[in-house]
Amino acid sequence: MGPGDLALLTPEAREALERADVVVGYRPYLELLGDLAPPERREGSGMKREVERCRRALELHRQGRRVAVVSSGDAGIYGMAGLLIELDPTAEVQVIPGITACQAAAARLGAPLMNDFAVLSLSDLLTPREEVLRRVEAVAAADLVTCLYNPSSRRRRPLFEQALAAFLRHRGPGTRVAWVRNVYRQGEESWIGTLGELPEQEIDMWTLVLIGSKNTELLGGSLVTRRGYREKYLEPAESVSSGAAAAAEADAEADAEADAEAGTAPNDRLYVLGGTGFARHLTEELETAGWWVRLSVASELGAREVETPPGGGVHVGGLDAEGLARELERWRPLALVDATHPYAEKASATAAEAAGRAGLRVLRAARRPWRPPSGADGSERVRFYPNTESLIRALLEEGHVPFLTVGTKLLPDFIGRGLDPAARVLASPESVAAALGAGIPPERLLAAYPPFDPEFTAACVERYGCDVLVSKESGTEGGLDEKLTAAELANARLAVLTRPPEPAVVYREAGDLIEELERLKKQPNEETR
Ligand SMILES: C[S@@+](CC[C@H](N)C(=O)[O-])C[C@H]1O[C@@H](n2cnc3c(N)ncnc32)[C@H](O)[C@@H]1O
Repeated sequence: MGPGDLALLTPEAREALERADVVVGYRPYLELLGDLAPPERREGSGMKREVERCRRALELHRQGRRVAVVSSGDAGIYGMAGLLIELDPTAEVQVIPGITACQAAAARLGAPLMNDFAVLSLSDLLTPREEVLRRVEAVAAADLVTCLYNPSSRRRRPLFEQALAAFLRHRGPGTRVAWVRNVYRQGEESWIGTLGELPEQEIDMWTLVLIGSKNTELLGGSLVTRRGYREKYLEPAESVSSGAAAAAEADAEADAEADAEAGTAPNDRLYVLGGTGFARHLTEELETAGWWVRLSVASELGAREVETPPGGGVHVGGLDAEGLARELERWRPLALVDATHPYAEKASATAAEAAGRAGLRVLRAARRPWRPPSGADGSERVRFYPNTESLIRALLEEGHVPFLTVGTKLLPDFIGRGLDPAARVLASPESVAAALGAGIPPERLLAAYPPFDPEFTAACVERYGCDVLVSKESGTEGGLDEKLTAAELANARLAVLTRPPEPAVVYREAGDLIEELERLKKQPNEETR
C-alpha cells in the first residue's frame, strides 16, 4: 500500500484492492485505506499477528475468496509476502510492488540514495541480536548509505545505540544522517543532522533512519549522495552553486565542517594509507602521540584486522589517485603517510599522485628490511633473489619444488615453467579465484587466514612435497622469522624475494616519523623530501 498516503498507492495495487472479496491486514493500515477496504470487506488484526493473519488469508483463499493481504510500503520488504508463500507454497500468490519507506523518506530528504545503499532492520524479533549487529558492522565498514528499518523501540533502544556506536567507529561523527517519522502519513516529521547528534534523537518504530556515506552532503537544505558527476563532468563551482564567490564560500564552509567533524585543526591530522600490521601499529603509535588519524585500507580483509579504529575512522576500499585526492581534500591533513606494503608499488605511486594533487607531503613508512639471525644456520638456509626470474632459474637448475607464500600477483610467473609449485593464499574469494586463474591446480592450492605458526607452515610445505618456502621480504612483522623456523622444521630452504627499490627516505620507526611530523607541523611549507 506504499507508506500511507493513497497518492502513493500504485494503480495495480489499487485495482487489486478494488477487486478483492476480503482485505486482510494490520488494523491501522486498513483504516488508512478508507473506502478501498470498507468495513464489510475487512479482516483486521493487531500487531505481531502476522502468522495468524497470513493463515486466515490462506484459509479464505482456499474457500475460493479473492483475498488482498496488505503490508505497508512494499509487501516483499519486511512485509507479509514471503510469509504467505512460506506457509503455503502452492497457494496462488501474486506480489504487487509498492513504494517502500526508504524510497518515500529519501524523496522527502532530497536524493540520498543516489549511489549504492543498504537496507537493514534492527528488529531482533526474528533475527538474533548478534546477527543483527554483525550485519550492522559489515555495512558500516562498507561505507554504504544505510536505511534502518525498525530502528528502535523502548525495549530495543540498547540495540540502536550499539548500532550507532558501530557506525561511529567506521564513519566520522560529522557523517550526514536523517530520520523521517510517519512519512506520507499524518504527523509526518523529519530531521537532518550528523551522526554525532543522532544518539540524542528520539527514534521510534514509526521512523526510518538514514545514515549517509562519506559522499552524502547537505546541499541547499537537501541531503544528496554524490555519485561522482562533479568529478567527471561538472566544474567544481557548477555542482555546488553558481558563481565563484558562492563556490569559495562553500569551500570555506566545507573546511569548517571538516574541522568541526574531526574536532581538530588540520595541522594535527594525518592520513595513513595501508592495510598491513605495520600500518595499524603505526596508526596506534601516532594516536598515542596525540595525532588525529584517518586510516585507509584497500580491502574488507584489511578492515577486519583493525581492532580499534582511529579517531578519524577507517576508509575501506581501493582508491585511485582521484578518489584519494578527494579524501585528502575532504580531511585536509598535515601529511599523507604511505604505509602500504613494500611491494605495493602501484599504491605508493597512487599515494604520490593524489598527494601532489592535494598539495600535500607524502612520508613513506615501511618495515625494516629483514635479515636472517646471525649465528644460527639461518644464512645457509636462506637465499635472497632480486626478482622472480632469478629465483625460478635457480629452482629449475637445482630441481626444487617451491611452496609459494607470495600473494597472488606473482603466481602466474611460476606457471608453465616446469616447476610443480604449491601455493598458500589468503582465504578470500578474490585470492582463491586469482590463484586458480593464474593456473595453480586446485589440489596444490591452500587458502588460509593468518596468523600462521611455524608448525602449520612446515606441515604445509611437507604436505605438498615442497623443499623451498618462497616469501616476499615482508619484514619481521610480515612473519619472516616464523617462515625461517618453518623452513628449519620442514628441512626446506627459504627463498626471499627482495623488495622493489625504496625511496631515499623511509621511516622505519614510529618515533622517527613522529619527530619528522612534529618538525613539519612547525614549518609546514618546508621541503624535506
Ligand atoms: C516491518 S517494517 C515494514 C516495512 C514496509 N514493508 C515497507 O516496505 O516500507 C516497519 C518499519 O518500516 C519503516 N516504515 C514503514 N512505514 C513508514 C513510514 N510511513 N514512515 C517512516 N517509516 C516507516 C519503519 O522503520 C518501521 O519500523
